[in-house]
Amino acid sequence: MKGKVNKTTRGSFATTFGIIAAAAGSAIGLGNIWKFPYEAGQNGGGAFLLIYLVILIAIGIPIMMAEFIVGRSSHKNPVGALKEASRSATGGIVGIMGVIAAFLILAFYSTVAGWTMHYVYLSVKNVFAGLSPEEINLVFKQFIAGGYAPLFWQAVFMIITVGIVLLGVEKGIERYTKFLMPLLFLFLLILCVRSVTLPNSIQGLKFLFVPNFTAINTQVILNALGQVFFSLSLGMGTMITYSSYFSDKENLTKTAIQVSVLDTIVALLAGIAIFPAVFAMGLNPAEGTGLVFGVLPQVFNALPGGQIFAVLFFFLLVIAALTSSISLLEVITAYSCEELNITRKASTLWGGLLSLAVGVFVTLSFVPIEGLSSGNAIFFDFLDNLTSNIMLPLGGLLIVIIVGWIMDPKIIENQLRVENPETNIFYKTYRLIIRYLAPIAIFMIFLSSIGFFK
Ligand code: PHE
Repeated sequence: MKGKVNKTTRGSFATTFGIIAAAAGSAIGLGNIWKFPYEAGQNGGGAFLLIYLVILIAIGIPIMMAEFIVGRSSHKNPVGALKEASRSATGGIVGIMGVIAAFLILAFYSTVAGWTMHYVYLSVKNVFAGLSPEEINLVFKQFIAGGYAPLFWQAVFMIITVGIVLLGVEKGIERYTKFLMPLLFLFLLILCVRSVTLPNSIQGLKFLFVPNFTAINTQVILNALGQVFFSLSLGMGTMITYSSYFSDKENLTKTAIQVSVLDTIVALLAGIAIFPAVFAMGLNPAEGTGLVFGVLPQVFNALPGGQIFAVLFFFLLVIAALTSSISLLEVITAYSCEELNITRKASTLWGGLLSLAVGVFVTLSFVPIEGLSSGNAIFFDFLDNLTSNIMLPLGGLLIVIIVGWIMDPKIIENQLRVENPETNIFYKTYRLIIRYLAPIAIFMIFLSSIGFFK
């Protein structure tokens, strides 16, 4: 290993809670509260949720375990770890693809996180009070089309992300997230209660929980697959990076299940907070990327003390976004510093800068600029699609192939603490999933989405 950091100096998480907090911190973010509702809204609601859950259990959790196995057995960054797991330098290519995915995701993640910061500011100014649903929607549309303010907030968000990774204070952040995240959870619960007690809310609950099977098509399945990967931070090395710091005492299966369950509960709560309100206010569930920003201020308006509530909620959402963006930047930093021999500081700086440089164009894709951009977010959609629906599932596919077919099974047995691999049903099922079920399922979803089975 070329890097400046070795196994003994790398450090590890001291407590189980620290581990779950960090991995869950990466998983829980805008993906749950912003992306899940808008994807569910555009892909048929209940049908999307059903497929999401099936993919989560059959593919998502097993792949998270596979990433944990790769990370903890090597104690390296994703590129080094995958080279080791695949016993060849080519395995590193999967890791490099993950680093590129991290760049691209951070580019548009910072756009949306910037919107969230702006919403803290708007809530402090009490801009939404007394506005009609149409007017609240208009506030969002005008804001993203304006250009300067979204760029400003995006840069602020990126500077904070870089600052945290640069100062190496992720652990310090963890101290705060320990009570801030449960608070976000509590707020979501209150929002849910308010939302389901609005008139007509039952329609929204039906939309989210009763699957309409005719809504299922290949695109819906691909979007659900992409959402599982995005929401669980899979397929690009985040979970490999984090698990490289896990201690040997940790039960990987248990951790993967705990993180996935927490992540799913938050997404479901976001759905329950959003859709009843959407229907109560006569809005369109398929509104798209702006859904949450158009709907939530209306739910806050319907709450006593709504303004304070809104300020705190959007603030907590920014924190949730930060614990995810840190994990994205950490992948770039760990790679560049351990594999390219660039100092940690320089790695973090250029990682953040380069991502911001791409991110500027993402933010500008919402701005109509004559001769340059239609303002229809084409670049945003392109990156969102490319990363969630192609790069992450492809990365996951290659990771399970490496773990299922190439990695020494002894290491896997050791990592999962399996004593009798011949007779252990859990382990045999797991092997079956990572060798056959998960790779074949992902491959079929890819094929069907490009019209192969038509
Ligand atoms: N899972 C994060 C979220 O839901 C986003 C993310 C994706 C973070 C991939 C790291 C890697 O917000």
